[in-house]
Amino acid sequence: MSHLSKFIKERLNLLNASSKARSRALLETQSTRYVTKQGRRLLNFCSNDYLGLAWHPHAISALAEGAKLYGVGGTASQLVSGHKPIHHLLEENLAEFTEREAALVFPSGYMANLGVLSALLRRQDTLIADRLNHASLHDAGLLARSKMLRYRHADTQHCATLLSETQNEHAHTIIATDGLFSMDGDLAPLSSLIQINQQRAWLLVDDAHGLGVIGAAGKGSVAGYHFTQTQVPILIGTFGKALGGAGAFVAGSRDLIDYLIQICRPYIYTTALPGAMAYTVHQNLKLLQTQSSHREKLIGLIKLFRTLATEAQLPLLTSHTPIQPLMLYSDANALQAQAQLEKSGFWIKAIRAPSVPANTARLRITLTAAHEPEDITRLLEALANICCQNTSLEPC
Ligand SMILES: Cc1ncc(COP(=O)(O)O)c(C=O)c1O
Repeated sequence: MSHLSKFIKERLNLLNASSKARSRALLETQSTRYVTKQGRRLLNFCSNDYLGLAWHPHAISALAEGAKLYGVGGTASQLVSGHKPIHHLLEENLAEFTEREAALVFPSGYMANLGVLSALLRRQDTLIADRLNHASLHDAGLLARSKMLRYRHADTQHCATLLSETQNEHAHTIIATDGLFSMDGDLAPLSSLIQINQQRAWLLVDDAHGLGVIGAAGKGSVAGYHFTQTQVPILIGTFGKALGGAGAFVAGSRDLIDYLIQICRPYIYTTALPGAMAYTVHQNLKLLQTQSSHREKLIGLIKLFRTLATEAQLPLLTSHTPIQPLMLYSDANALQAQAQLEKSGFWIKAIRAPSVPANTARLRITLTAAHEPEDITRLLEALANICCQNTSLEPC
């Protein structure tokens, strides 16, 4: 056996022995409401297509139309010949939607986070981050090679303490937080972060999960709650969730965007988001702004889920968003619950470390506008059964 094979086998054995191995399911068909696995149709409760736009007939037509107008490929970096009028138009619309001066489109949210932090932080600077931020923000901090401090989840006082320890006239600080936390479903305490910050640090909000779903007119955790560009100068949004497409953007001042175009390596050294996708996201953004029915339906389903879950006394986190984590703590319990749910006709993935802190494994249930009330009722019955069978869960 080669040295490489031996190394890999040892690591894989360790992952398998500790219930940490991951697998990619081969789903024969997928929509936001259903998936098919080995010939069985399962209700899908792990899609981030919160508004059901990824499968909306208008979105499907838009992608085909976009491909005719712009081709299917990105063709080159934005700075070479990849930047098309549709990217420009989308950026203008995103800036208007998020109430910022300007926006810049990226091929993915992971790259937007890597790009913006590595462009703004130098070695002498500091990143102060919520411990439960998305992995891409943590990785961005590593790429930036600045000092990185983490505060306890949503603990504004802890953040204030770290901030007071980092004041230095030759360096700057960025406070970074998810707007809506991807694995817990709760909202960042933005009002208090803004209050303790007093504009000493630059506040960055990654609103991948909030945009399109929460706040006034679905404008997300920042503009949807009327936080200004001065209060939150760096806003990240993604297209792969409520906007039903792929890609991402950074929004902020014109100067911020002009600077990123000059300096941001993950923006410069990659092929542009295909124009067909920019066109689709542009159409979906229009749909989101003109039709509130998807969001209203989703809000109704979240309320139904919470009411039934409270009646069944399920151990849920306090979330009023489409992300509803059911805590099972041990990896083995979470995997077992996933398997049981699959048998009962549900597709819900167990989320384990390192996606969440060790010993906080959970079922991450996501609700979407593509679901119907009877789907929620069925799900709650199945979850109540699982909790009853699992003696480590209280109460039953
Ligand atoms: C909070 C958050 N930020 C960023 C990303 C990365 O976005 P993308 O999938 O577009 O790379 C994700 C998930 O995918 C996310 O949940």
